[in-house]
Amino acid sequence: MDFPTENIKEINWDFPGSRTQFLTHKYHSYPARFIPQIPRTIYRMLLKSGTSKVFDPFVGCGTSLVEAILSQISAGGSDLNPLAILISRVKTQPLEMNKLKNYWLDLQKIFNPDLQIYKGHQFSQRDFVFPKRHLSTRFSEDSIYIFSKILDFIENNILELDFQDFFKVGLSSSVTTLTESKKWEKVNIWRTFRPKIDSMIKIMGEFNERINSFSNQMRNDIRIADSRDLHFIPEETIDCIVTSPPYVNALDYNRIHQYNMSILGYD
Ligand SMILES: C[S@@+](CC[C@H](N)C(=O)[O-])C[C@H]1O[C@@H](n2cnc3c(N)ncnc32)[C@H](O)[C@@H]1O
Repeated sequence: MDFPTENIKEINWDFPGSRTQFLTHKYHSYPARFIPQIPRTIYRMLLKSGTSKVFDPFVGCGTSLVEAILSQISAGGSDLNPLAILISRVKTQPLEMNKLKNYWLDLQKIFNPDLQIYKGHQFSQRDFVFPKRHLSTRFSEDSIYIFSKILDFIENNILELDFQDFFKVGLSSSVTTLTESKKWEKVNIWRTFRPKIDSMIKIMGEFNERINSFSNQMRNDIRIADSRDLHFIPEETIDCIVTSPPYVNALDYNRIHQYNMSILGYD
């Protein structure tokens, strides 16, 4: 494939003034992510909607994949970080709105904003599900308990994996918001989680409309893998690799996501 180098020089790759937070790009923050306009522009220059396939071996939170779907291009990606894979899958997976809203109603019936939660509910009596360790340096026991109960509900009451993952991303995004809060000792998890899910559901409706009938069924094409071994990709199946490699000495991805990973049970 010839690369149109002349066009590349004419583009301002900073895309000043462009909106970068829209549709599912808004679901979850992630360090050093792409400006969505970068992969989008590359696709427009090089690929054909409907027939091309791209791959991102450092997929992070899936910016390149979301942009691929919006351009009706098939895509896959991999990353070492399980949280990255979770977020990428959720950001690219259209969900049936009625089901999504019903799961959310079920969850809201059990929890309530005044934290009078987990009274008379059907949860098993299992205790804290997380090893508390570093979590307890950031969150009170009560908070950890509430996180654990929300996760408990998600894993035991939402049987479809794509829907489970959707709520897990909302929970993880709330963890990020709360750990960044200056008044973190007094956090109210439910009051962070509830508007987050409300907003994600609204965005999902918009996303479904935007991608129309183009659905790539990407779940199996987004996987945990070390980019040094991509043997699972069959020969001659990828037209273009679009990626932004890790800032190895500048960002400690594990540390940045340590609370999210613990709360989702990934450590
Ligand atoms: C700069 S970020 C990519 C951000 C992405 N473009 C986005 O928009 O979210 C680099 C990613 O490389 C991943 N990574 C680091 N070393 C890796 C390896 N050996 N194999 C696969 N992924 C790796 C990190 O987990 C991180 O998600």
